[in-house]
Amino acid sequence: MNKPYFIAFLLSLVLLVASFSVSAGNATSKVFKGKPCINSPQITGNYPSTPFLFYIPTSGQRPMKWSADKLPKGLKLDSSTGIISGTVTFKGDYTVTLKAENALGVSVKKLVIRIGDELLLTPPMGWNSWNTFGRHLTEELVLQTADAMIANGMRDLGYSYINIDDFWQLPERGADGHLQIDKTKFPRGIKYVADYLHERGFKLGIYSDAADKTCGGVCGSYGYEETDAKDFASWGVDLLKYDYCNAPVGRVEAMKRYAKMGKALRATSRSIVYSVCEWGQREPWKWAKQVGGHLWRVSGDIGDVWYRDANHIGGLRGILNILEINAPLSEYAGPSGWNDPDMLVVGIAGKSMSIGYESEGCTQEQYKSHFSLWCMMASPLLSGNDVRNMNDSTLNVLLDADLIAINQDVLGKQAERSIRSDHYDIWVKPLVDGRKAVACFNRASSPQTVIMNENTVTDLSFEQIYCLEDHLIKNSGDSKEFIIKLAPYQCKVYIFGK
Ligand code: GAL
Repeated sequence: MNKPYFIAFLLSLVLLVASFSVSAGNATSKVFKGKPCINSPQITGNYPSTPFLFYIPTSGQRPMKWSADKLPKGLKLDSSTGIISGTVTFKGDYTVTLKAENALGVSVKKLVIRIGDELLLTPPMGWNSWNTFGRHLTEELVLQTADAMIANGMRDLGYSYINIDDFWQLPERGADGHLQIDKTKFPRGIKYVADYLHERGFKLGIYSDAADKTCGGVCGSYGYEETDAKDFASWGVDLLKYDYCNAPVGRVEAMKRYAKMGKALRATSRSIVYSVCEWGQREPWKWAKQVGGHLWRVSGDIGDVWYRDANHIGGLRGILNILEINAPLSEYAGPSGWNDPDMLVVGIAGKSMSIGYESEGCTQEQYKSHFSLWCMMASPLLSGNDVRNMNDSTLNVLLDADLIAINQDVLGKQAERSIRSDHYDIWVKPLVDGRKAVACFNRASSPQTVIMNENTVTDLSFEQIYCLEDHLIKNSGDSKEFIIKLAPYQCKVYIFGK
């Protein structure tokens, strides 16, 4: 081969390898293989006479065609995109039969559309800009994130909210009394972003603060709650995360400030989810629902780190530390009001421009356990990594359909920790069909063997046990004992009962 040909040959080889490694993270996603499977929760809520938007998350080979039977008056389904939209005037539970069809088969699932006073009847799923990008968020990033979540299958597992965090706004309020969008970051405004997301079945979240300034020092909403809530609604916003930096410490004042924004959001023409972010300092699990909240942070910010108490510089906590804070709060969680142990750090691996400083990242096993435990605790599943550039191991953690189904179970129970030994935990989450999800979690750096029997864990049926990891059903027969081997930091999840 002469020299120019040899160079051209080498170049094409490099290009081929490069294109393969890019596609390995995305287009080959297991989500787009095989028969259809509708992955939606069994229920979704919306206020009456406000826009309803719901993409039917469905895995399976494309092309896919969707249909829906008994949609309430005012809603229509686009059979080629899988997006249900419209407005329903009257309150009520509307049970719809969803159907998805591809060349290999059909999937049918019932969905209750509850038109009433509640939103988030199952925990929210989506993505938030903060954990990786901090102040460096742009329109381009948000649109590319949406495209990536479609291409990599996240949208088809139910991830629907795309949330813009701090720094979308300018430091000062405009002379017209309105918040000013930072046009260097969002040149076409927020409505443009909302429209882009809605056309693809996503919802848009935004961020503000119950004081003059946000945590990042840009303009907050205090004293302008109604104006801002109306602006958010007019842009098409579907969720507000409301922070509490630069605001007075007392609980009564915090409740007052949160209630003001809660009321303003409820008075708009949209169904806007309200995320209360005062870091658990005033026990928001006891009052956030009352002021219109649908989820409330239980702790300060999560770091991309396995174990760290908040006395450390920056105040970021480790995954394990936040787990301990959330563990005793299960009685406060339920449909339309969730404890929020903060966003996921799965796959950040030390690459963060906000929470990354001094965080070394976690191992793959630790990220897997983090995801499993957040699913067990019915926690919001808001990924915080760069979903445009993730490897298959990270994607596989985020796309675990069995764990997501446990998280989205309509009973809405947060798992309770029934055993905490020196090294391992056993967590139990009752499911709507009477079965129980059980997580055995090794907190230690050495392998553990856990023996489960009727003495150690009460109220479990040992007759049939489904193991999420290998998808096998184990019949324990009469032995009423089940032995589990755990690698360091491993969390194995099972479903007990028929
Ligand atoms: C913190 C909040 C973080 C993030 C940050 C933005 O108070 O807990 O999740 O929103 O502010 O400045």
